[in-house]
Amino acid sequence: MGSTCVVGLQWGDEAKGKIVDLLCDQHDIVVRYQGGANAGHTVVADGLTYKLSLIPTGILRPGVDCVLGNGVVVHPPALLLEIERLTAQGVDFGGRLLVSDRAHVIMPYHLAEERLTEESSSVAEHLGTTRRGIGPCYRDKVGRVHGVRIADLYHPARFREHLNRIVDYKNRLLTAMLPDFEILDASSIADEYLDYARRLKTYVSDTTTWLGNQLDRDRRLLFEGAQGTLLDVDHGSYPFVTSSNSSTAGIAAGSGVPSRSIDRWIGIVKAYTTRVGGGPFPTEQDNPTGDRIRKAGNEFGTVTGRPRRCGWFDAVAVRHAARVSGTTELAVMLLDVLSGHESIQVATAYEDESGNRIEAMPASIADLERCRPVYATLRGWNEDLTKCRRWNDLPPAARRYVDFLSELLGLPVSIVSVGPERRQTILDRLTAASPREVAAQA
Ligand code: IMP
Repeated sequence: MGSTCVVGLQWGDEAKGKIVDLLCDQHDIVVRYQGGANAGHTVVADGLTYKLSLIPTGILRPGVDCVLGNGVVVHPPALLLEIERLTAQGVDFGGRLLVSDRAHVIMPYHLAEERLTEESSSVAEHLGTTRRGIGPCYRDKVGRVHGVRIADLYHPARFREHLNRIVDYKNRLLTAMLPDFEILDASSIADEYLDYARRLKTYVSDTTTWLGNQLDRDRRLLFEGAQGTLLDVDHGSYPFVTSSNSSTAGIAAGSGVPSRSIDRWIGIVKAYTTRVGGGPFPTEQDNPTGDRIRKAGNEFGTVTGRPRRCGWFDAVAVRHAARVSGTTELAVMLLDVLSGHESIQVATAYEDESGNRIEAMPASIADLERCRPVYATLRGWNEDLTKCRRWNDLPPAARRYVDFLSELLGLPVSIVSVGPERRQTILDRLTAASPREVAAQA
C-alpha cells in the first residue's frame, strides 16, 4: 500500500486527526495542502492531549515527516507558537517539519480585513469565520497584486518595497471602512515578519520538489485535509464555506503532488452532523436532542471554543461530498456519542415545501434553506460503546446503524471509532460483513 488521503465529508471536525494519527504507522510523510490555523485537531495519546492547528498530527510520531504544502496559508506567529507549545510537551521536531516556500503568508491587515466583514451589521456578510485571516489571505493570493509568499520574506529589500505599497493601500481602505482602525506601519510589520522568517528558516523549503523526490524513493504520503468537503469553496455550501478546496480536489493544487499518486481514499464522517459558524444545516436539532449530542460529544470548537451546532446524519450531503472527494471507504467516528437515544434519525433525502423529493444537494443556499429532511428512523441503543474493540462487541442496533449508513452511501465502512483514544477503534468491520451482505440485509 502506498499513499493515502483522509478527508472530512461533512462541515469539518469529523475527528480526522485521530485517523491520521493511526495511519501514521503505515506512512512516512503527512502533508497538509490547504487551510491554515482555522483547523484544529485534538489527539489523545498515552493520556496526553495535544492540540494541533497548523502542524500535521504526524509530528507526534517520531520518524514521520510533516509538510505544510504550498496551498496552506501560514500565520508565522501562530506557527511559531505551535512549535513552541509542542516542543514544551516534549515533541522533537528534529528536521521533520517542512514548510513550503510557495505558501502564502497571513499578515496583520488580513485579520483587520476579516473584522470588516465579520463585524458588519449585515447578516449576509457574516460567515462566522474563525477570524484567523484565512479568507482575506486567500483573496490576496488569487488577486495576485497583494500576495506575500514565504519565499518573499527571504528577499528583505524587495519585501519591504512590496509591503510599503500594500500597507498604503490597506490603510486607506481600512481607515475608510473600520471606525476604530489604527493605521499600520509598514516598516515595523516588515521588521516583525523578517524576524519570523529568520526563526522559521530551518523549516522552509521547496516542498514540491522534495515531495516529488520522496515519491521517487517510494516513501508513502498521507494527505490530511483540514475542514471538510462541505466547506470546500467550490463544492460546499457556498458562501458559507472556507476559502480553499477542502475536498480532495485541493490535494494536487496545494501540494504539487498529482492525485494519481494516491492509492487509498478515506472519507471521515461523524455518526451525526455538526457545523460551526453560519450556513444552512438541514438536519440541525436546535432543541434538547441537539443539546444532548453537544454535551455527549463535547462539541465545542478546538480553535475558537464556540459551541457547535448539532444534528442528525445527513446522507444527502455526505453522498455529495463522497462523490466530489472520490472516497472509496468510510470511517465512522464518535459512534459512542449516540448511545442512549431511543431512536436515531438519518436524512435519506430532502423535500421542498411542495413535497418534491430532492436527492442531490442544491447549489443555491436559498434552495438548501428550504429543504426539509426526509428521515429514516432507526432503533437506538443504551449500551456504552467506549469499551468495544471489535465489530461484534457492538450492540446489534449500533451495527445496524453503521450498516445503514454504508448502504445509503454505497461505501464500505472500514473504521468505526468509539472514543478519542487510539485503542478505541474498531478495524475488523470489513471482515464482519461484506458490502454485498450488508446490502442483502437491507
Ligand atoms: P474560515 O475558514 O475561518 O474562513 O471560516 C469559514 C467557515 O469555515 C466558518 O463557518 C468556520 O466556522 C468554518 N471552519 C473553518 N475551519 C473549520 C474547522 O476546522 N472545522 C470546522 N469548521 C471550520
